Amino acid sequence: METTPGMPSAGIWGVGRAVPARVLTNADLEAMVDTTDEWIRTRTGIERRHIAAPDEAASDLAYRASRQALENADVAAEEVDLVIVATVTPDMLFPATACLLADRLGANKPAAFDLEAGCTGFVYAITVAEKMVASGAYRRALVVGSEILTRITDWEDRATCVLFGDAAGAAVVGPCRAGTGILSHVLGSDGAGGDVLNMPAGGSRMGTSEETVRDRLHYIHMSGSDVFKFAVRAMGNSATESTQRAGLDRDDIDLYIPHQANHRIITASAKRLGLPLDRVVMNIQEYGNTSSASIPLALAEAWEDGRVAAGDNILLVGFGAGLTWGATVLRWLDDGDRR
Ligand SMILES: CC(C)(COP(=O)(O)OP(=O)(O)OC[C@H]1O[C@@H](n2cnc3c(N)ncnc32)[C@H](O)[C@@H]1OP(=O)(O)O)[C@@H](O)C(=O)NCCC(=O)NCCS
Repeated sequence: METTPGMPSAGIWGVGRAVPARVLTNADLEAMVDTTDEWIRTRTGIERRHIAAPDEAASDLAYRASRQALENADVAAEEVDLVIVATVTPDMLFPATACLLADRLGANKPAAFDLEAGCTGFVYAITVAEKMVASGAYRRALVVGSEILTRITDWEDRATCVLFGDAAGAAVVGPCRAGTGILSHVLGSDGAGGDVLNMPAGGSRMGTSEETVRDRLHYIHMSGSDVFKFAVRAMGNSATESTQRAGLDRDDIDLYIPHQANHRIITASAKRLGLPLDRVVMNIQEYGNTSSASIPLALAEAWEDGRVAAGDNILLVGFGAGLTWGATVLRWLDDGDRR
């Protein structure tokens, strides 16, 4: 769906990020499972990842990222009337992490809910926020991707434990001049692929029991090569469609921010789109795959590094468990574009 010309729009007013202090390197992993730094670097592009402290939960990282985003947007917590947290690792199954976050921030009884769309969560969440703000129903939305994936990582499974890390990224979404902000989006899913990436136990299908714990069913289970093939195709298709729906072509895209799951997936999708690598944001070497946090984390870092300027067209593309995919094109706001 593209935004309708002339209709009110919504865009990102400010971004923030948070990562845990502790770093786990590939050399550390060599001592834990049968792997090598060389295999991890060449097959995935990951060199290290940040790991939450035992007492650190998704809402803690979300809180830090949100404070930064609110400050950068020059918006007070009391002004926020909508909070959406995209996560597959909420503090608890319920209540929603968004409610815990809103309370800690001091927001004034906002609408608050979690959204689960695997690693595409942030792209889904920002699309929902854009619709709710552009309609005029809400004024200031806080959209967060926050994950403590290392809590559901099987540290005995070398095929998955080398891939994931913990982080949060946040964005404040507010109204803006038509023709700026979020220009288009594409969201999709294919539940037939639900079994290639999941956490089998702990939900209503398979509750927690001694057997499920013994059988290691409370961890991430993944068929890596199936996800890989799906990812390159889904990213290419949704990115192309979203760019077209924004009325742009690939040469108009100033910055491509893909979900950070594997450097080979990122470079293959950029190649498929015909985008040169200097227009691609890649930070997987530092953080690994942080699921819903990866896109807002990369966006916030790119902004801090001065890679994002007013008027830039930025393409965000995600894929993940579900299977889900999503892409959005946004035009970065000038202060004068805010409404
Ligand atoms: C996981 C991934 C890096 C594996 O790379 P790959 O090239 O597909 O590798 P394969 O799974 O075919 O495994 C190749 C070999 O490496 C081995 N291997 C797997 N993990 C290893 C590790 N950490 N260290 C050393 N060897 C490893 C496998 O056992 C296999 O050995 P075999 O050929 O003797 O059976 C890659 O498939 C991937 O990134 N997939 C997408 C994952 C993803 O994005 N998930 C999250 C989605 S949001």
